[in-house]
Amino acid sequence: MDMLGGLTASEFLRDYWQKKPLVIRQAFPGFQCPVSPDELAGLACEEAVESRIIIEDDAGKPWQLHNGPFSPDRFNELPEQDWTLLIQGLDHWVPEIADLLEQFRFIPNWRLDDIMASYAPKGGSVGPHFDMYDVFLLQAQGHRRWTFGGHCDHTSPRVDGTPLRILSSWDGEETVTLAPGDMLYLPPGIGHHGIAEDDCITLSVGFRAPTLDDLLTGFTDYLSQHAKASEHLNDPDLKVQDNPGTIAPDVIDRLSSVIQEQLGDRRNLSLWFGQFATAPKSLDIVVPNEEPANPQDLAEAIRAGEQLRWNEGSRFAYHELDNETALFVDGEQFLLKGDARPLAPLLCAAARISMADLAEFAGDQALLGLLTTLYNQGSVYFE
Ligand code: SIN
Ligand code: CO
Repeated sequence: MDMLGGLTASEFLRDYWQKKPLVIRQAFPGFQCPVSPDELAGLACEEAVESRIIIEDDAGKPWQLHNGPFSPDRFNELPEQDWTLLIQGLDHWVPEIADLLEQFRFIPNWRLDDIMASYAPKGGSVGPHFDMYDVFLLQAQGHRRWTFGGHCDHTSPRVDGTPLRILSSWDGEETVTLAPGDMLYLPPGIGHHGIAEDDCITLSVGFRAPTLDDLLTGFTDYLSQHAKASEHLNDPDLKVQDNPGTIAPDVIDRLSSVIQEQLGDRRNLSLWFGQFATAPKSLDIVVPNEEPANPQDLAEAIRAGEQLRWNEGSRFAYHELDNETALFVDGEQFLLKGDARPLAPLLCAAARISMADLAEFAGDQALLGLLTTLYNQGSVYFE
């Protein structure tokens, strides 16, 4: 398979990633969409699934947004054309969709957001817009005409009267029609508009990076939960001031050094970030196993050659610290030492864990304990 249109992953990252769009014809040759429009409509009726319908002209109002879950009748009331159904996190619910992610492992696990599906009858679109994340738009069924190009930001003019951020005076630079198996990569901030030419399903493989706001608020929240956070600033060297109202420069120096000492703690930063970056998107995705196993059960299944795989919604990542390896799974942190350290890269390499390599660890009670914890918290299962 030639998913990057003849480019190696390194060439793609060097020349296109976060830089410019790329159209890849037959990235997935002969692609057959694993879900039908009816199945997408069925998912949109489920409480745990995040779904939206966007109607271009909704009783005279432009680009109206309706949030799911929907009743099955809702689909009978929709116009013939010019609407779109969006299903967020389709990879969490459909294993064959999650499997597509294995083709994108040249991008780190922690950058992945999810796979969103859109279904639209002829004419349907979500309007001209830009996103703040990297996206691979894989045409899964039918045809979609994409116009794209031009850098947009929060100052770009928008259509009034809609809760959606639709660009009002935007002309793309390039137009392509994608057929099943074709794919368009778009970096953040590039305007785009994809209109269904016929009954059309598009899968958006999205990679979202955290905002500075996410990082600052998330990390300071984490730091503030640590024991040291309740310590008060001290000033045993306080000197008499001319004016009691002065906040002396050395107070600011002291604040600055206390804050920098906290913010500059790389160990805390990596432990927080691993947990933050692997936290499940919703509590409905990773649910504890109804039939908890014990380490012996796990050892037997591994010896029997059963295939262990990640829960479709689970996120795995690890970080090498000086004398240990931090494994992060679904927002939980596990510190591995000594001979246990290679388990982290092994568990994180692919959704289907290499059972031959895992068998080497199956005699170690502590590691079996860890696998049992992951199994019981719902992060892995036997296929
Ligand atoms: C769509 O699939 O209709 C919209 C996806 C996007 O533009 O990000
Ligand atoms: Co978009």
